[in-house]
Amino acid sequence: MPTRPYVIDEMISAKSIAARIEDLAREIAGSFAETDKLVVVGLLRGSFVFIADLVRELDLPVEVDFLEASSYGDAMESSKEVRILKDLRGEIHGRDVLVVEDIVDTGFTLHHVINLLKSREPKRLRTIALLDKPVRREVDVKADWTGFEIPDEFVVGYGIDFAQRNRNLPFIGKVRFTEGD
Ligand code: PRP
Repeated sequence: MPTRPYVIDEMISAKSIAARIEDLAREIAGSFAETDKLVVVGLLRGSFVFIADLVRELDLPVEVDFLEASSYGDAMESSKEVRILKDLRGEIHGRDVLVVEDIVDTGFTLHHVINLLKSREPKRLRTIALLDKPVRREVDVKADWTGFEIPDEFVVGYGIDFAQRNRNLPFIGKVRFTEGD
């Protein structure tokens, strides 16, 4: 999709992300130390990079599953209507579950997914988001673990897209439009 010209300024380096994930994985492993197997649920598409790095740092028996939720499509504003495009493959009733989200913005996506998964009566349901933009929140929800709190910047990379581009950047960057500068 054509867009105004922009450049991407690095905001959080790949090295900082890796260091933060190591710490988070240690905390999570401590919190789920008694589990027989943790179901780690990645919210597609944005979390695919984060979940891949996170599970490799988690010193726990894990099962990986995915749920695809979408509220933005290619738009820049949330539609506030969260659609489940792909459901989990496995059952979570009575199981320990960790939901992995790339970013919590308005909060509609995480709120909707938590309610959906809670209705399936897991033993424990916890959430982690790499990024949190608390200033944008419209629904009262917060992940149990957060990688970085960020200001209201338009971010891309490390799984996060701008009109389905830039997900493959190894760092988190800020979009800066150059036209009209
Ligand atoms: C993005 C992002 C989060 C959600 C956060 O998903 O990956 O899941 O929006 O926004 P919210 O807190 O305002 O709901 P998107 O719908 O763009 O799908 P994607 O993950 O496939 O890019």
